[in-house]
Amino acid sequence: MIPDDQVEEVRSRADIVQVIGDIVPLKKSGKDYKACCPFHDEKTPSFYVVPEKGFYNCFGCGESGDVFAFLMKRLGLSFVDAVKHVAGSSGVEIREVNRGQTGEDPYRHLHEANAFARMFFQNSLWDETTGRSAMDYLQERGIGRETAERFGLGYAPDAWRGLHEAASHHGIGEEVLLEAGLVTRSEKRKDPYDRFRGRLIFPIESLSGKVVGFGGRVLGPGREGSPKYVNSPESPVYHKGEILYGLSWAKNTIRRRETALVVEGYMDVVSLAAAGFENVVAPLGTAVTPGQVALLRRFTSRAHLLFDSDAAGLKATFRAADLLLSGGVHPCVVTLPPGEDPDNIVHSEGAEALQGHIDGAVDVLDRKLQILEERDQFRSIEHIRAAIDRLLPTLRAVQDPAMRDIYIKKVSDRTGVRRDTLEAELARVAPPPTPQRAVRGREHRRLSRPSVPEMGPERELLLLMIKDRDWIERVGERLGPPDFVDVRYRAIFESLLADHELTHPPEKMVPEAARVLEVLLADPAELGRSQRVFEESLSKILSTLLQERLDAVDHLLQNTLDEQQETQLLGEKDRLSKERRGLGQDWSPTVRRALKNNHL
Ligand code: UTP
Ligand code: MN
Repeated sequence: MIPDDQVEEVRSRADIVQVIGDIVPLKKSGKDYKACCPFHDEKTPSFYVVPEKGFYNCFGCGESGDVFAFLMKRLGLSFVDAVKHVAGSSGVEIREVNRGQTGEDPYRHLHEANAFARMFFQNSLWDETTGRSAMDYLQERGIGRETAERFGLGYAPDAWRGLHEAASHHGIGEEVLLEAGLVTRSEKRKDPYDRFRGRLIFPIESLSGKVVGFGGRVLGPGREGSPKYVNSPESPVYHKGEILYGLSWAKNTIRRRETALVVEGYMDVVSLAAAGFENVVAPLGTAVTPGQVALLRRFTSRAHLLFDSDAAGLKATFRAADLLLSGGVHPCVVTLPPGEDPDNIVHSEGAEALQGHIDGAVDVLDRKLQILEERDQFRSIEHIRAAIDRLLPTLRAVQDPAMRDIYIKKVSDRTGVRRDTLEAELARVAPPPTPQRAVRGREHRRLSRPSVPEMGPERELLLLMIKDRDWIERVGERLGPPDFVDVRYRAIFESLLADHELTHPPEKMVPEAARVLEVLLADPAELGRSQRVFEESLSKILSTLLQERLDAVDHLLQNTLDEQQETQLLGEKDRLSKERRGLGQDWSPTVRRALKNNHL
């Protein structure tokens, strides 16, 4: 037997249009859906599904009922099987039920602690005195009570042991609170204390609606020394990479709209929901992960990426887009005016303005081509070669065969590289970062590449990023993984970009790189002035890259018989030399000396 409350949960979360639509081809008709009735013979549709009320009805034969009744009658399922079927297709976990009455949820204590915490935070928010400042903050951000309640927003009072004490009165012990990440200890304070203090609280729900973690934002701009956001750590019930914030609320709308709006974080989800956008989800403080893509794929095969328009946002967009493509979700990129984010836009210009930008979204490959065009990346052979390198990951990622064909044709048309050549390049399986990879397609560069000294600029930059994770984005804005010569460093850089919080080598990392990463993570070196380390290492790397391009152009010049190409190459050589000289002007004397010794 399935307990009544579970049946209710499944019923309320079910998407009746989807369940019935899997069996009967439904057509939209106003707010409802219609089809020829599967229970009697007819030529014109009189079978209606009414999603708002959660039932179906045939005006011809009088059959009617809820989603379970439909499956029982149409597929001959038992009631229990009908509930399980719907639970499965709408992502409700009925694990306990499947295991029978003897099966216990091994994490019940954590779920209870989290459920208690959500209630505690919610009560504090709506308390006239305790919650005043948080309520004001919500209002300031344009989030009404209805939206706040829908997302279960709360407020963590500004006290060291507010939740801790309330929970222990309720019989929830300290060990459980620690395991759930609701309380924490530090070097300074040995006594466990509340992790979330004086913050607006966003409960994070699993797909089935269980609270598994929390995010907390300071009220206002944030102060020196206290981060703007504090998040639950991983716990047995909370795996950041496997959850999308907002999905438990948005999934039915995502199915119906056939697309999800993917934004950067909690605040954007809630703020867009307040403006009437119901199909919004966000990753949880990290880059989009394959697990999140797989989750989303259960509800839609399309997504609209709505990130910041700055350089970091663009990087995140393309990283997410390639992951989505390889997970079978087709990404479109929404481009916002410079300096804007989705939250700003709905707040200052309203929902229609944002909808306008969404309507103007373009396919990810088209967007890449646009940007390369804007940056004049098709102006020379060398640039085209580099542009192709930037497009290849997207061509590799795309799974749908027809789409792949279209993509390859587009790239071929734009770059003038034959389809066969592109296909051949793609046919080389996206190689793991091994030394051979560095050589592939860059033979000419290798010829002049000086051997990389032990504490080279690449290693120094990585150390900088590992010691202070804020540098990851900034380095990422200037360099891409292929810019790292040492393939081990390149792999490490790639994994840092994918997970800023990285504390161990990821499982898939090749052992050579993993060993170096372990060493870097454990390195006690003090780097001194970060900004200088950053600038100097970056100039060294850029200068090496420019030198390589110059060598490549020289090489081509020696071999070309085509006059037109020769002129073009000479122009290119001139430009590159200028660029390299320009780079040199900012260098400190030490760097110059170091570079001279490297014969650059
Ligand atoms: P913002 O920095 O814009 O956050 O992050 P915000 O709360 O909107 O702050 P202001 O008022 O603009 O300065 C963009 C998105 O990333 C999320 C935020 O919730 C927001 O949706 N975010 C940011 C996180 O989820 N975690 C973080 O650590 C930082
Ligand atoms: Mn913001």
